[in-house]
Amino acid sequence: MILVLNGPNLNRLGTREPGIYGSMTLTQLEQRCEGWAKTLKLGVKCQQSNFEGQLLEWIQSASEQGFQGIIINPGALTHYSFALRDAIAGQDLPVLEVHLSNVHAREEFRHTSVIGAVCKGAIIGLGAEGYRLALEFFSDHLNATLERNDQVLPHPTRFA
Ligand code: DQA
Repeated sequence: MILVLNGPNLNRLGTREPGIYGSMTLTQLEQRCEGWAKTLKLGVKCQQSNFEGQLLEWIQSASEQGFQGIIINPGALTHYSFALRDAIAGQDLPVLEVHLSNVHAREEFRHTSVIGAVCKGAIIGLGAEGYRLALEFFSDHLNATLERNDQVLPHPTRFA
């Protein structure tokens, strides 16, 4: 089960600066994520908030809620929220940072990510595709973990 979090202003996708973010709405993006997750046989829950504290609380409780990984597009919080960084660093799940736009080709303040160093990786500038690739990574990553466990503890029926 993967938690997909979108931060401030991403609820306005579709109408917000379409030249940069495209015409897809947040609802459509979340529906796509659900479709991709289904194909990959992953569970997914998509949430969006304009409030930093709400995002922190979702991150803090993700593990106990049974999530196995987090995909986050923190919007502008990416560039300055040390609280968000600490929340990610203070929990055990792998986190992938996603940005729709190529932040490196935009204003200088967007070139810095204060969460990058505490995330497993980042997918930047590929639009909605970034979320699909992040889900695919988790699908492979979770399968790889299962395979590794399988090697350590082979299932008894294998020898039946
Ligand atoms: C964004 C990039 C951020 O700089 C910006 O503040 C956003 C969206 C993106 O997905 O490209 O809100 O995270």
